[in-house]
Amino acid sequence: MVLVTNSYLLKKAQRKKYAVGAFNIYNLEVLLAVTRTAKELKSPAIISVTPSALKYAGIANISSLVKKVAGKLKVPMSLHLDHGKELKDIKKAVTAGFTSVMYDGSALSFEKNVKNTKKAVIMAKSGVSVEAELGTLSGVEDEVSSSKNIYTDPEQAKEFVQRTGVDALAVAIGTSHGAYKFKGDAILRIDILKEIRKKIDVPLVLHGASGVKKAFVQKANHYGAEILGAKGVPDVQIRAAIREGVCKVNIDTDNRIAFTAGVREFLHNNPEVFDPRKYILAGMEEVERTVEQKIKLFGSFKRA
Ligand code: G3H
Ligand code: 13P
Ligand code: ZN
Repeated sequence: MVLVTNSYLLKKAQRKKYAVGAFNIYNLEVLLAVTRTAKELKSPAIISVTPSALKYAGIANISSLVKKVAGKLKVPMSLHLDHGKELKDIKKAVTAGFTSVMYDGSALSFEKNVKNTKKAVIMAKSGVSVEAELGTLSGVEDEVSSSKNIYTDPEQAKEFVQRTGVDALAVAIGTSHGAYKFKGDAILRIDILKEIRKKIDVPLVLHGASGVKKAFVQKANHYGAEILGAKGVPDVQIRAAIREGVCKVNIDTDNRIAFTAGVREFLHNNPEVFDPRKYILAGMEEVERTVEQKIKLFGSFKRA
């Protein structure tokens, strides 16, 4: 089927109390790993692309690839711009046929964030959904970085949604981007999430939600990586967030680690191989396993 919007996917998820995985892609291989798994499990999925991924792969290449690969499956998928920090990113994505965009003004003042998000909503015209973010996620990951976590204020969230008319809101409740989310115990502020949910009814989004499972980190490290002190969000807290109203969960880091672990293991065990298709396939298989685990965790299995 043709690509659908995030609103289409998320309204159903909200009603039925599950979440749709938004998986970051930047090349053909990760796209294929995500779409094949979603198809196999009859799950909807969001194909997320950041501005830096677009810079890497080219917006025309990515959008035609996603339309060709994801747009012909029997499971519903959207093509979503992740963390568009400039209004010109939004314009480019809408022009290139993205079905959903995130305008990320979370680093700006409240008023400036409202002002720009409203502009993004106008640019998106009907047919493209808009996600915005309020509050700040800590963590450092390429172009998405901040040093401290500022939780979303529920009252401000209500005002923000009313004034901007966004279709979905990303909230800061303790998660962060990348592989180093927590120094001590992983704590999500489910109490804040509940307060936000009471005040607004647009779909809520959880960024920085990778689990950074020990097994994958250890596997990558066993075969030569040095990913030290990494820690993510435990599954039990993801389930709690979904129960309390999150219906889009963003995953990038887990697939990066999985891919790396697969490629490293393959190359270590097969030092004579120099055909990239072989070792890349090993990375893709690990991404497929990771996406399968996420789809089951989020409850979107057989929801297509
Ligand atoms: O939140 C999004 C990503 O994990 C950061 O991605 O390295 O493609 O900018 P990027
Ligand atoms: P992770 O770094 O936890 O995978 O988060 C990804 C994300 O939020 C993309 O927008
Ligand atoms: Zn994010």
